[in-house]
Amino acid sequence: MLDEKKVSFSGVQPSGNLTLGNYLGAIRNFPEFSEKYKCFYCVVDEHAVTVRQDPAELRRRTYETLAVYIACGLDPEKNTLYIQSHVPAHAELAWILDCYTMFGELSRMTQFKDKSAKHADNINAGLFTYPVLMAADILLYQSDVVPIGVDQKQHVELARNIADRFNQQFPGTFTVPEPVIPHTGSRIMSLQDPLKKMSKSDENENAVVRILDDRDAVIRKFRRAVTDSGSEIRASVDKPGITNLITIYSCVTGRSQADIEREFDGRGYGEFKQAVGEACADLLAPVQARYRELLADKAYLESVMKNGAGEAAYYARKTLSKVRRKIGFVNL
Ligand code: TRP
Repeated sequence: MLDEKKVSFSGVQPSGNLTLGNYLGAIRNFPEFSEKYKCFYCVVDEHAVTVRQDPAELRRRTYETLAVYIACGLDPEKNTLYIQSHVPAHAELAWILDCYTMFGELSRMTQFKDKSAKHADNINAGLFTYPVLMAADILLYQSDVVPIGVDQKQHVELARNIADRFNQQFPGTFTVPEPVIPHTGSRIMSLQDPLKKMSKSDENENAVVRILDDRDAVIRKFRRAVTDSGSEIRASVDKPGITNLITIYSCVTGRSQADIEREFDGRGYGEFKQAVGEACADLLAPVQARYRELLADKAYLESVMKNGAGEAAYYARKTLSKVRRKIGFVNL
């Protein structure tokens, strides 16, 4: 809508602990994505404060999140990378959209129910209206697509409903966004329970390989990966552990499943796990080196933040002033 390209909007929580699953399943495809879409990547520090944060840690994580995305190959020249609180239009539009969102709708959000159970001592209004701020993020940029994990689908549906409701009264205001759940063909599963997805928030550190895990940790986690009975390196439904390792090895090396099965024919699980671990450590090493370089250069990261916020604000302003005009605010 904005340029010739369609718009994609992604919000990322400021936490540095992305996983190998995030990398192989999504982040690795970002460069390709920016060929097709005009992409906004927003570090959502305003969403983060809906639960209690240690201020120094939040600030540190904001830098780290930006650094890790750039290190993974997100090019700030080709994408708009910025921090949510640097563009006040998000909070401004959120207020207006609050008035177009029903109490009942927000009460039905499963993430609100989960989070208020988890943070029973702090069920604040921000936690409740969290999805409205998210709708503002998305609608401000007239986004066509919103790449998300399944857990965020309900929030994008709500953003669509808000957009529809607003458009009904004020036609042509917002693009109604589509959620897209990336299917890269490969789901990376937990190393300790291969029937579960590899999750950022798993309590068992051995279950998750993180992009920033050092070489020894990566290899150790693969060595401890749960495998199945038998000893054959073969992908099949009754061998979810080995199948997951084959999937990972295939993603990392670009080789086919059949090819991998052939190479490891007659060799043991131990040897295979070691090979997968080493391949992943090799894949992550250059990302980590770049990450360390970036983190050491705060001035550069801040220049990315500044440019990104300037660019985002340009688009955000257009939508916000249209909204203000339509609802009857005086634009000076
Ligand atoms: N709520 C999302 C999450 O927890 C983050 C987010 C905030 C987001 N704003 C967004 C995602 C807009 C997509 C679009 O993962």
